[in-house]
Amino acid sequence: MSNVEIPAGLKELLQGYTVEVLRRKPKDLVEFAVQHFTQILESQNKDQKVRKSSFKSSRKGVTFETKSNKPKKEEEEEEEEEPCTTGKYNRRVSVCAEAYNPDDDDDDDTEVRVVHPKTDEQRRRLQDACKDILLFKTLEQEQFSEVLDGMFEVFVKPQEHIIDQGDDGDNFYVIENGVYDIVVQKDGESICVGKYDNKGSFGELALMYNTPRAATIIATQDGALWGLDRATFHRLIVRNNAKKRRMYEAFIECVPLLKSLELSERMKIVDVLGARAFKDGERLITQGDEADCFFIVESGEVKIMIKSKTKAGQQDNTEVEVARCSRGQYFGELALVTNKPRAASVYAVGETKCLVIDIRAFERLLGPCMDIMKRNISQYEDQLVALFGSSVDLKH
Ligand code: CMP
Ligand code: CMP
Repeated sequence: MSNVEIPAGLKELLQGYTVEVLRRKPKDLVEFAVQHFTQILESQNKDQKVRKSSFKSSRKGVTFETKSNKPKKEEEEEEEEEPCTTGKYNRRVSVCAEAYNPDDDDDDDTEVRVVHPKTDEQRRRLQDACKDILLFKTLEQEQFSEVLDGMFEVFVKPQEHIIDQGDDGDNFYVIENGVYDIVVQKDGESICVGKYDNKGSFGELALMYNTPRAATIIATQDGALWGLDRATFHRLIVRNNAKKRRMYEAFIECVPLLKSLELSERMKIVDVLGARAFKDGERLITQGDEADCFFIVESGEVKIMIKSKTKAGQQDNTEVEVARCSRGQYFGELALVTNKPRAASVYAVGETKCLVIDIRAFERLLGPCMDIMKRNISQYEDQLVALFGSSVDLKH
């Protein structure tokens, strides 16, 4: 038995099957094996090009599950335009920057399920990294699980460029750890406009709107990321955006703060927002914490509580209610505008749902509403004077 040759790909095939068995716990292992390998065979037959380009990406153990209603010719043409690029350095060759409407997405009836097998430990780390990613917050459980299946691990070194401004978009990235500079070229100058510090995600814009990369992302230390290829991002996230737009369009139109925005600007906010539900009494914001997001109340109510001051001007730990926000109102902008810690704590009153926008999208998309927000911030100072007799300086 010393000269037994193991066929190429056998290990990956069996590994893929084993991972699926452990995840899905089928009753009949043989029947499940037939289904599993039939899907792989069908995907190999139907998606020759997708398969080739993805295996070329040098990431081992990837399986594909394909369901499609399209005539073959149309599929082939589409694959020509939309190669499944999972490799970090596979750059697409063409982009177009027209106004984008996810309803027009012509990928809608093509199903190419990419599965990167993961160990239990990898899956745990991945789930942890993805638990607060707003783009995933409106996905159904099944879609979220497909996203996790499709993600692959990427390790980066200091000074490595994960994305270069102007390039075509290949992958979307979720940060597991590491610090990443966001650099934007303006008038020939490179400006560092912010950083991701061990959390968050980037690289969604070029994939959502078919535009060149809008910024350069550089690792400042060793780090680990989870990538999601363009085709899977389209199939799950962009398609979900069409649903989100339908769900939130009417509500967003009625949010007073956003009235001055163009419809397309409001829709870009909908594309990146996440929806979160809170139980009665749950704390959404803690006074003194570092801020990373902004909230709009979709239903229910929140109360804003501030730690009161003693006569000597020192803070004690008793919280005093200063305001409430209900449907259509926003909160959590102050720390983002002033770059200071959260000025108050915020609690749900009854079951409450909020739309959440992360700090990067807030800075990019809510610039035109800044004047309205600043005007309202001066009302907070009046509230504090009325309550405590003196004001803290909220702006500086
Ligand atoms: P994308 O354009 O695909 O690639 C660069 C990414 O940087 C972009 O998506 C955003 O996810 C992220 N980013 C963070 N801050 C900014 C910014 N101020 N302008 C543009 N992109 C930004
Ligand atoms: P931020 O400081 O980010 O988090 C707490 C939020 O409570 C704050 O933003 C405001 O949106 C909101 N808020 C409402 N009334 C007040 C107030 N009087 N002082 C401070 N924050 C207030």
